[in-house]
Amino acid sequence: MRGLFITLEGVDGAGKSSHVEWLAAHFRSLGRSVLFTREPGGTPLGEKLRDIVLHDAMHPETEALIMFAARREHVEQVIHPALARGEVVISDRFTDASFAYQCGGRGLPEARLEILENWVHGDLQPDLTLLFDVPGEIAQARLAAAREPDRFERERMDFHSRVREAYLRRAMRYPNRIRVIDGSRTLDEVRAQLAVTLEPW
Ligand code: TMP
Repeated sequence: MRGLFITLEGVDGAGKSSHVEWLAAHFRSLGRSVLFTREPGGTPLGEKLRDIVLHDAMHPETEALIMFAARREHVEQVIHPALARGEVVISDRFTDASFAYQCGGRGLPEARLEILENWVHGDLQPDLTLLFDVPGEIAQARLAAAREPDRFERERMDFHSRVREAYLRRAMRYPNRIRVIDGSRTLDEVRAQLAVTLEPW
């Protein structure tokens, strides 16, 4: 069976993590093996880099380079092998997050990241990206009720608005790959949207 690469994206507080179990169960019910992973992270080295990039102050370009360094390991050690085994790989974030956060949020030129993207995974793109979209106020309210905020979650509202807009621009640019899910709905309503979106897969 052909491997399937699915990524989950959205601003912090968009609620993507609430649907991971449901997504995995959906594919298992179709007889597929599911591997769930995340970025930044997904490998022992990647998790160390995650800790650094989420908590230490750094230049925006350093931040982008660390994201792609972690991704290099992740693609090589986890994603490619699992796809070769025919599994469904579900990654909580991938390169769209770099374009949304480092370009949209921090203002780095897209051309820089396109170079890194080609370098790190020129031969690999997600088959499907589920973009959980919520208005800024809802995302902020969810974050306020959640755990201790990291460096990104502590950013001001205008940063999160730019990240959201950058995600939505990418969804317009890649309409076949990126599907926008209205994350402001109830859990059941979001699942209904997911079920429809996943039907062809
Ligand atoms: P998470 O909280 O969804 O696990 O994501 C960790 C943070 O890392 C989140 O605020 C988004 C950020 N991030 C980037 O800025 N660029 C990236 O390429 C990735 C993968 C995540």
